[in-house]
Amino acid sequence: MDRIKIVGGNKLNGVIPISGAKNAALPLMIASLLTDDTLTLENVPHLADVEQLIRILGNHGVDYSVNGRRERQDGAYSRTIHFTARNIVDTTAPYELVSRMRASFWVIGPLLARMGVATVSLPGGCAIGTRPVDLFIDGLRVLGADIEIENGYVKASAKGGLVGNRYTFPKISVGATHVLMMAATLAKGETILENAAQEPEVVNLADCLNAMGARVRGAGTPTITIEGVTSLSGARVRVIPDRIETGTYAMAVAMTGGDVILEGADGNLLSAALVTLGQAGAEISETNSGLRVVRNGHGIMPVDVTTQPFPGFPTDLQAQFMGLMTKAKGTSHITETIFENRFMHVQELARLGARISLSGQTAKIEGVERLKGAPVMATDLRASVSLVIAGLAAEGETTVNRVYHLDRGFERLEEKLTRCGAVVERISD
Ligand code: EPZ
Repeated sequence: MDRIKIVGGNKLNGVIPISGAKNAALPLMIASLLTDDTLTLENVPHLADVEQLIRILGNHGVDYSVNGRRERQDGAYSRTIHFTARNIVDTTAPYELVSRMRASFWVIGPLLARMGVATVSLPGGCAIGTRPVDLFIDGLRVLGADIEIENGYVKASAKGGLVGNRYTFPKISVGATHVLMMAATLAKGETILENAAQEPEVVNLADCLNAMGARVRGAGTPTITIEGVTSLSGARVRVIPDRIETGTYAMAVAMTGGDVILEGADGNLLSAALVTLGQAGAEISETNSGLRVVRNGHGIMPVDVTTQPFPGFPTDLQAQFMGLMTKAKGTSHITETIFENRFMHVQELARLGARISLSGQTAKIEGVERLKGAPVMATDLRASVSLVIAGLAAEGETTVNRVYHLDRGFERLEEKLTRCGAVVERISD
């Protein structure tokens, strides 16, 4: 199993190209199930989760082809991938595939809308929490689906087609918003989704659906209105830049000090995190090519943070920000409100010398002057990269084990950091 070895202490200076967003690419790929025409996606990142979803979609009958593999020569893969679901050959998503990647449960929306039937394995819990699917089931029922849960599978059918309706999410969910929005595009009549997720990835999906001929309004606000159409066509759509990757590298620069251009980044997609980083002592400015992050001369200030749905501070940057706060000049508190078990990085950061105590959903971080390298591992993607951030500023050598977590969501991490002066090396056994 691959490991990443980091020798800490160097500042980051240079340019880091920001990849297409994993969490936008995945629902856009799933939207290809809605049409027998070709959906072309540009700026698709080369990540393990994308490859896994390609396999899952292939199981339903989606053909794909890749071109433009190195359309940029600056280190980022920015692929254009064509997806064609001419014939849906299987409306079942089996446990073996869904259990490996939770987002694959989302195929239930387009399969049900287009084929009138879908059988999808329950995804089960994962490292960051129980993650139920009740909102998906309630919402699809409101659109007229018959749903039974049997032997670990959600069996959904809507023989006469889905019918538009009003659904108010009792809790904000990105995935359930994606699924109900996709399902409603082919329903009869109008659907109104209230208390919907406002994440930029939802807007990217709505824009894609509209480019395919859907009638979706209001994405990016809490109320989304979808007027159903009888069929969708192909389209060409660009995946938005990855706001979590952007925030992660911005935090890495804040941690080590230095001066880095995050090329292609869009600051509007992560305003809350950038404001917080500014309070912590990083200088952030917009440039022609993206965002510039600088920290020189002064230390890291402690800042309290609470994770919230968009436009609040994202849960997907919580671990990274905690990594940064371990070296702040004082005590900070981080409260996680989205997932109940997203503090697995705490024990591992402690191995590097961080001083963190947990009380319920709040972590108290007392900044230390020095971190010291150690072998560490993490059980999820964002937790793993928080250890990389801490390792970049730790004295001596840090080895991050189980690199496959990083490969799920960070394209060419070691290459991007090395080019900016970090000592980061992948070790394959
Ligand atoms: C998406 O997950 C992201 N994944 C996550 O990123 C991200 O952390 C999360 O949104 C929140 O921003 C992708 O986009 C692929 P939710 P999702 O449904 O859609 C509860 C990463 O590291 N809930 O918004 O699965 C749920 O348990 C990943 O890239 C229900 O109770 O998250 C959670 O507490 C990790 N019932 C809350 O809602 C449901 O039916 C928000 O989850 C659905 C969700």
